[in-house]
Amino acid sequence: MYVLGIETSCDETGVAIYHTSQGLINHILYSQVDMHSEYGGVVPELASRDHIRKLVPLIKQLMQESQLKSANINGIAYTAGPGLMGALLVGAATAKSLAWTWQIPAIAVHHMEGHLLAPMLEENPPQFPFVALLISGGHTLLVKVEAIGQYQLLGQSLDDAAGEAFDKTAKMLGLGYPGGPKLSVLAEQGTPQIKFPRPMTDRPGLDFSFSGLKTFTLNTFNSSEKTTQDKANIAAAFQQAVAETLSIKCKRALQQTGLKRLIVAGGVSANKQIREFLTEMTDKEHAEIYFPRLEFCTDNGAMIAYAGSQRLISGQQHQELNIFARPRWPISELY
Ligand code: KG4
Ligand code: ZN
Repeated sequence: MYVLGIETSCDETGVAIYHTSQGLINHILYSQVDMHSEYGGVVPELASRDHIRKLVPLIKQLMQESQLKSANINGIAYTAGPGLMGALLVGAATAKSLAWTWQIPAIAVHHMEGHLLAPMLEENPPQFPFVALLISGGHTLLVKVEAIGQYQLLGQSLDDAAGEAFDKTAKMLGLGYPGGPKLSVLAEQGTPQIKFPRPMTDRPGLDFSFSGLKTFTLNTFNSSEKTTQDKANIAAAFQQAVAETLSIKCKRALQQTGLKRLIVAGGVSANKQIREFLTEMTDKEHAEIYFPRLEFCTDNGAMIAYAGSQRLISGQQHQELNIFARPRWPISELY
């Protein structure tokens, strides 16, 4: 079964084709980063308009490159939420219209389930059950995963998401958008001279909070000389604090659930130091760790095509002709 995947929840237009026995056939990603960087962050209306411009030509290109015709496609998976309402509606309307025209099923995919299943696209995918740490621009979630659709929320961020904390800190240091990757590059030039807080690690529980860390970083920056080296040192201390906090919480989640498998996904899972800290922790815990390849950490169509294919195989589909998008959609509501 060939499944076309469409991702338009934020600032990337992603399309992909996944075949249920051959695996990933092809994928294309168009990033709007250059357009939004002028404004220092994502402008929702511009994002929607750009998805409208790019999505159909990208699907055409994808089909041509894959030497597939519409008659070959057996289902369409699209991100229905969470994300920006206008951006989601572009993907949802396109997916539903194509599915209706081609007389094939469409399936609404939860964006964070897409991230969660992204490691399944790799050569050595994890077996269920596992603990998933999902760290993106909008969410920080620790989830116990028994099977696809069986998600127990163990912990989440009470304020800023991990990626949001990276982005805001980067902005404060004058690094621009998108901040996460820029901050991590700068951090390599610095040493963490001041020890930053590891929020909420001094008490039990699996929730996160990054806004205090952001304020601590701001105060440290304001009381520094603000030289390039100061900025690099602050970036390094901030990144190390996030990496260690995530690692402490994941260790706790593994111990609490008794599971020996951790998957880490979402944009922030591309961060080298976070990968290193988590890998070291799982080695010590004699647990296995799985990440998506770097290009599938951040938003992409492949993870949506995969997640949708698994739900279509199990018989789910969105038959009604109405087009729906859910800007807010708790992952624990999935079944
Ligand atoms: O998953 P994603 O592409 O989009 C959302 O679903 O939000 O994640 C984007 C987030 C942004 O906050 C970005 O700054 C962060 O992931 N990010 C990183 C790195 N690459 C992307 N944060 C830290 N280090 C990185 N290397
Ligand atoms: Zn995402």
